[in-house]
Amino acid sequence: MIPAPGADGVVRELPTVADTESFGEAVGRELVAGDVVLLAGPLGAGKTALVRGLARGLGVTGAVASPTFVIAREHPSAGDGPALVHVDAYRLGGPDGSVDVAAELDDLDLDTELARAVVAVEWGVGVAERLSGSAVTIALERRDDDTRVATLRRTARP
Ligand SMILES: Nc1ncnc2c1ncn2[C@@H]1O[C@H](COP(=O)(O)OP(=O)(O)O)[C@@H](O)[C@H]1O
Ligand SMILES: [Mg+2]
Repeated sequence: MIPAPGADGVVRELPTVADTESFGEAVGRELVAGDVVLLAGPLGAGKTALVRGLARGLGVTGAVASPTFVIAREHPSAGDGPALVHVDAYRLGGPDGSVDVAAELDDLDLDTELARAVVAVEWGVGVAERLSGSAVTIALERRDDDTRVATLRRTARP
C-alpha cells in the first residue's frame, strides 16, 4: 500500500473514523523499525485516529491518545515487531516560535529509538524530515461533509 519513494501518492477516501483507523492499520502492517511517519492535517483531521490504526497494525501495546501534553509516548511491541513512538510536534518550538524545533526534536533522542521503533509524528511535515532520509507522509484533509481524504506518500531520499 505504501508507494515507492517518489512515486505518486495513494489517495484514499475515509468516510468514517473506523475507515481512518483501518487505513492506518493497513499502513502499520507494512512498517518496520526505522520508519518515520509524518502526519499532516489541521486539528481534528484524524491524525491521532490514524496513529491508533498504525498501533493496531504494528501490534503494539497501550492505548493511543493524543500526546499533546507529553510530546512523546512510547508503545512497546507486544511481540517481536517494532515499538511505536508517538510524537506530537504541535507544541514544539515554544508558544512564540522562539525555541529551536530541531533542537527539541534532537532532545527526544528519536534517532536512537529508530533502531527498534517506528516513529510517528503528528504535525511532523516540514519539521521532522531530518529524522530519516526517507519518510512516509500521510496528509489528512477534512471535507465540508466531515469525511476525510488521506494522501499517502513515501518521500524520496534527497
Ligand atoms: N473519517 C474520519 N476520520 C478521522 N476522524 C474522524 C472521521 N470522522 C469523524 N472523525 C472524528 O474527528 C476527530 C479526529 O480527532 P483526532 O484523531 O484527535 O484528530 P487530530 O489528531 O488530527 O487532531 C475524532 O473525534 C473522530 O471521531
Ligand atoms: Mg492529534
